[in-house]
Amino acid sequence: MDKFVVNGGNRLCGRICVSGAKNAAVAILPAVLLAESPCIIENVPDISDVHGVLRAMSALGATVTPITRNSFEIDPTGVRSYVVNKELAQGMRASSYFLGALLGKCKKAKVAPPGGCAIGLRPIDQHIKGFEALGAKVSIESGMVVARADKLSGCSVYLDMVSVGATVNIMIAAVRAKGMTIIENAAREPHIVDLANFLNSMGADIMGAGTSVIKIRGVEHLHGTTYSIIPDQIEAGTYMVAAAATRGDVVISNVIPKHLESIIAKLKEAGATIEEGDEFVRVAMNKRPGKCNVKTMPHPGFPTDMQPQFATLLAIADGTSIVTESVWENRFRYVEQLTFMGASIQVDGKSAIITGAKKLKGAHVQADDLRAGAAMIIAGLVAEGQTEISSIEYIDRGYEMVVEKLTAVGADIKRVSDEKYGYTLKAN
Ligand code: EPZ
Repeated sequence: MDKFVVNGGNRLCGRICVSGAKNAAVAILPAVLLAESPCIIENVPDISDVHGVLRAMSALGATVTPITRNSFEIDPTGVRSYVVNKELAQGMRASSYFLGALLGKCKKAKVAPPGGCAIGLRPIDQHIKGFEALGAKVSIESGMVVARADKLSGCSVYLDMVSVGATVNIMIAAVRAKGMTIIENAAREPHIVDLANFLNSMGADIMGAGTSVIKIRGVEHLHGTTYSIIPDQIEAGTYMVAAAATRGDVVISNVIPKHLESIIAKLKEAGATIEEGDEFVRVAMNKRPGKCNVKTMPHPGFPTDMQPQFATLLAIADGTSIVTESVWENRFRYVEQLTFMGASIQVDGKSAIITGAKKLKGAHVQADDLRAGAAMIIAGLVAEGQTEISSIEYIDRGYEMVVEKLTAVGADIKRVSDEKYGYTLKAN
C-alpha cells in the first residue's frame, strides 16, 4: 500500500485552489438518478468516494461519460436495477443515499449497509424514519436495507438529532412524493443547500434549505440539468490550518468565505491573520499559535470534520486547549498517533485536553480515517524530521491531488509505494 513521506519544517507559501465539495458531490450524484434526461455535473472532485458513487450508478444502468477530470455527463434513463450490493456500497457512507434516490425514482431500493469512517456507530434510523413517514416500508433482508412504497406522500418529519445524511436522503426521496414534505430539525450544512439547489435546477420545488425547516413540494417530473458543485469547505479549512500551523502565508482560492466563518473565527483566536476576498481567503501566521477551546457543532458551528486538523494546530500551541466533539462518539482515535509524535493530549469522554508542545517529532503514523489522515499530514508538515503516514487510502477518499497541492506551496511531501521500502507486500 502507498504511504506519504513528509519532511517537516517548511513554511507553506503560495496559492492552493480548492476542489469541489466531497459531501455535496456524493449527495448530488445519486440524486441524478431522479432525472428523466441526462445531467452534466461539473467541479466534481477527483476522489475515491466520488468514483465509488459513479461505479454504483453505472452498475445500476446509468451511462457515466467523463467530459474532463472533474466533469461528467450522466444519463440515468438506462437504469433498470434498484439493488446496490455490498461490494459497491461498502467503504463509503454515501451509498445510503441510493436508498432515497431509488425510492424516489422507482419506489423500491435494496442497498447494502453503508460504510464510512469509523468515527461512531453511524446508524440510519432517522433516514428510515423519514422513508416510513413518506409511506415506504423498510426492512432488513439478508443484510440488505430494503425500502418499498406503493406511493410516496408528503409528510412532516422531525429529526431526533441534526443529521446531514437523513436530511439528504429524505429530501431526495420527497421530491417525487405527492404533496408537501416538511423536514424539521434539518441539517443546515452548505452541501444541503447545494443539493437543494441542484434538485431545484432539475425542476424540484424545495424551500428553506440552509435553515432547520426544509419544505419540499413533490413534482411529477425532473428534467436533466447542468450543475457545478460548490467548493469544499473542509478541504479549504484543512489547508487554512496547515498554513497557520507551518507559520506560512497561503491564499486558498475557489472558496465561499461564508462557509468558512467558524474556521476563520477560531484561526483568528489562535493568532492567525486572515484576509477575505470574494472567492479566496488568505491565511498568514508568523508566530506560535495561541491556545483556544473548540466545540464541534452542526453548521453553522465549528465543523466536526475540521476537529482533528484543528486539534493538531493546538498540539503545538502556547498553552492548554480543550476540544469537545459533540457530533461523533469516537472521533479522537488520531490522538494516539499524535502522541507518538510528542503531542500531550488527554482524552476524557467527549473532550480532549491539549497541552501545547514546543515541537513535534517525525514518526511512523497511520491515518485512522479521512480527517485523521489530514491531521497526520499537518502534524508531519510541522514536525522535526521525517513522518511516514500509512493507510493513506483514507486520505484519497476526500482530498484531490493533496501531494501536488501541498508541494506547490513548499511542502516536502511524497507518495511512495511499499516497494521502495525494500519489501513488497505479498498479494494474498
Ligand atoms: C455526514 O455524515 C458527513 N459525511 C460526515 O463527514 C460528517 O462528519 C457528518 O455528516 C456531520 O457533519 C457525508 O456527508 C458523506 P450525520 P453523516 O447523519 O450523514 C447520528 C467526512 O469527514 N445519527 O449528520 O453520517 C450520528 O450517529 C465525513 O467527510 C443517528 O443517530 O452524519 C451522529 O452522531 C465523516 N441516526 C450524528 O447523528 C441517523 O439516522 C450526526 O450524523 C443519522 C445520524
